Amino acid sequence: MSRSSRLLLLTGSLVMIGCRQDMHNQPRYKPLAGTGFFGDGRSARPVVEGTVARGHLRIDKARYTGKEDGMDVTEFPFPITRADLLRGQVRFNIYCSPCHSRIGDGNGMVVRRGFRQAASYHTDKLIKAPVGHFFDVMTNGFGAMPSYASRVEPDDRWRIAAYIRVLQLSENAKIEDVPADQRVALEKIP
Ligand code: HEC
Repeated sequence: MSRSSRLLLLTGSLVMIGCRQDMHNQPRYKPLAGTGFFGDGRSARPVVEGTVARGHLRIDKARYTGKEDGMDVTEFPFPITRADLLRGQVRFNIYCSPCHSRIGDGNGMVVRRGFRQAASYHTDKLIKAPVGHFFDVMTNGFGAMPSYASRVEPDDRWRIAAYIRVLQLSENAKIEDVPADQRVALEKIP
């Protein structure tokens, strides 16, 4: 070993010995440990009154409940774009079609295997139902249908509701609703 590397080794070890980890020894509490410091004996302090968890400032009531003054809202709380419809379709096919089927007639695979008949979206009642009603059903469940609030986030519930409107339109459309240039292709389908 050369002289210089021996010197380096020596200073290196001295520096290491000098290393102390005082920051490890801080006065602190383990999570949820008790304490005599606060009157209520809890080291975990309650949140300041009026604190709102990040992402949970839900000022727009209609957007998170589907209701206004106790009534189902009749309009979407944000503009629905093509991208929203496409996402609504994906979410619908994942969460709703197992029972309601991909076209929304209520005869999904789970129903065909014996689950209680799911609603068809193509009844007069549901065609006329305000969009807030669909949001409400997804949020709170309906009869035999469970709530989807834990699985489908609020804005996705609106997107699904928008896609249900698409199904209602397309399943009840007449041939005259199809643009003339596309009718030919459609009529060729046996
Ligand atoms: C596990 C099966 C199942 C799934 C999945 C399901 N539903 Fe349902 N749904 C039902 C059944 C069953 C009914 C009829 C409830 C009854 O009559 O008790 C129903 C009824 C409804 C109704 C009619 C409510 C009314 O006013 O009559 C709507 C709207 C609806 N579901 C929307 C949805 C949407 C949107 C999804 C996806 C997020 C979904 N459902 C997923 C089983 C399901």
